[in-house]
Amino acid sequence: MSAERTRSVAIAVTGASGAIYAVRTLAALLSQSVHIELVVSDYGKRLLRDELGDHATVENLRSYLATKYGRRVEAGTMNVQSNRDLGATIASGSHGCSGMAIVPCSMKTLAGVAHGLSRNLIERAADVMLKEKRPLVIVPRETPMSLPQLKNMVLCAEAGAMVLPAMPAFYQLPKTLDDLADFMAGKILSALGFEHDLYPAWTGRVASS
Ligand SMILES: Cc1cc2nc3c(=O)[nH]c(=O)nc-3n(C[C@H](O)[C@H](O)[C@H](O)COP(=O)(O)O)c2cc1C
Repeated sequence: MSAERTRSVAIAVTGASGAIYAVRTLAALLSQSVHIELVVSDYGKRLLRDELGDHATVENLRSYLATKYGRRVEAGTMNVQSNRDLGATIASGSHGCSGMAIVPCSMKTLAGVAHGLSRNLIERAADVMLKEKRPLVIVPRETPMSLPQLKNMVLCAEAGAMVLPAMPAFYQLPKTLDDLADFMAGKILSALGFEHDLYPAWTGRVASS
């Protein structure tokens, strides 16, 4: 009898607003004993600290996640890759990553993925997901959007990615920023094929407050 294989997912964090979506997604996956290959762009690192505080550095991320989301995040494992290392494991289709999410995704990285540029590990790993026909979830954040940005989303969708904009819903009557982040992380987990209880299923009517 073979042991069940740990699922491995690549998560990329880029320099768009919405770092809370990234940390919530990481915590939810780690809590499900997933192995994460993490890549954070230079501006992704900046946005983690700008939006979440000085403790939210890549080096300190495990401890940040455990403090914010509890020790259940220790169920999973995480390997941090350099965005400059195009020889990293996830740069190859032979690596067994079952899917990837770019959360949040800047318009710059969106453009790079849309045009197959592979200028860094995030763009290359996304390109690998597309060519291998594995799930690629792109969580763009910008407003308003220019025509090139809209076209880049169409290109990604046509290539097989799921474009999942950072647009939390309000019919769940969110009370906190964490409620909004739970909703987006839940959508991302669903898109990657994970079950979760990050938000209640729609029952046909708004829950009473
Ligand atoms: C505080 C701050 C907020 C930003 N927010 C966004 C954003 O929401 N969306 C976006 O596309 N770019 C945003 N940017 C610009 C990107 O960080 C910039 O284009 C960067 O080159 C993206 O590089 P990366 O994709 O390698 O992370 C922001 C930059 C800063 C400093």
